[in-house]
Amino acid sequence: MSYLVLARKLRPMRFQDLVGQGHISKTLINAIRSDRVAHAFLFTGPRGTGKTSCARILTKALNCHSPVENEPCNACENCLEINQGIATDIIEIDAASNRGIEHIRELRENVKFSPAKCRFKTYIIDEVHMLTTESFNALLKTLEEPPSHVKFILATTDHHKIPTTVMSRCQRYDFTNIASADMVNYLKTVVEKEKISISDMSLNIITKSATGGMRDALTSLDMLISFSGNQIDDEKVISILGLNDARELDALMEAVIDRDVGKVTSLFQNLVEKGRSIARIVIDLMAVVKDLSLVKTVPTTELKWHDFLPDQLELYQRLTDKVTAGILQQYFQIILEIEGQIRRSTQAKICVEMGLIKMCSVESLVGVAEIITALRNSDKKKSPVIN
Ligand SMILES: Nc1ncnc2c1ncn2[C@@H]1O[C@H](COP(=O)(O)OP(=O)(O)OP(=O)(O)O)[C@@H](O)[C@H]1O
Ligand SMILES: [Mg+2]
Ligand SMILES: [Zn+2]
Repeated sequence: MSYLVLARKLRPMRFQDLVGQGHISKTLINAIRSDRVAHAFLFTGPRGTGKTSCARILTKALNCHSPVENEPCNACENCLEINQGIATDIIEIDAASNRGIEHIRELRENVKFSPAKCRFKTYIIDEVHMLTTESFNALLKTLEEPPSHVKFILATTDHHKIPTTVMSRCQRYDFTNIASADMVNYLKTVVEKEKISISDMSLNIITKSATGGMRDALTSLDMLISFSGNQIDDEKVISILGLNDARELDALMEAVIDRDVGKVTSLFQNLVEKGRSIARIVIDLMAVVKDLSLVKTVPTTELKWHDFLPDQLELYQRLTDKVTAGILQQYFQIILEIEGQIRRSTQAKICVEMGLIKMCSVESLVGVAEIITALRNSDKKKSPVIN
């Protein structure tokens, strides 16, 4: 049998398989249970978070011959045909490649015919934001009052591009980025099933680089398997997912905090020589300072450890012991200045170097409260009557 990538092999089959979208599954199951299912849905949210999968699950749940607690059985004829993509009553339209009016006209012609086998004729229009204005307009009437045997499920990553006239005719469901903890737990079950040996630390790294999209996480895992087979070690993960750069940025920040100008400039030079864009380095530094400020001010128990690379949290704790929150604020201001300057200047590299040198000389500013306390103390020494 030909190899199927994980993201296809593991397409969620029931509402309960959808990770991190419990709010949506629950509402849809309730609607099915009480037989109050809308005629048009809009599934919107970031890529790879389960929109298309959920559209298929909903379609199956509505047409299944023997649903189990309102979930599709995945075994009856309708479920099997929908899973294989051969159900004639389920029409999946990829709006990215069928943007034109002719497809919507055809759809308008065909909606009136009853379904052949299923209870509902279901139109899944994926990437719906790609339709032309003319197509959207042609869709409006049908979307507002389709025949009772028709359901529409529109899916998009970009609801801003959908006319409000269309949005207001649909029940909208917002898919969210999948929380790191949920994603790590899911990946653990995947690697167990696939008999892959990989550390929790590496699964955290994959999760971090996927920024909330499950498809991206599974695609990274696939790539790592094809490089390393069933034994995936941490260093491979770090190098393949390009996270070495993060470590170098941390080293740069450490040198700034240690006021080691020589080291700072040579680390910066290294990053530039590796072909990293200067603007990107500045943005990443800004994120490092933000993370350091978080570590400085938020109790460790409340920090989301998934948001940090392995060892990073320990490093940040060590670094924040050496600086005040005020100094971190000053770093941030300087980086903001650098960001503005590099946009206006033709000498971006020099601007950053000057900014980094400035960061190395930041002194802790004395706040107004400290000045008042110091004055009071000196007054007290002079005249013990004043309080
Ligand atoms: N919430 C989720 N739970 C479990 N797996 C998921 C989830 N979301 C995505 N996946 C995985 O990613 C694959 C692709 O998901 P799906 O096609 O449903 O995403 P999508 O939101 O439609 O993405 P796109 O916006 O790119 O069309 C699925 O087959 C599954 O392996
Ligand atoms: Mg999709
Ligand atoms: Zn079924």
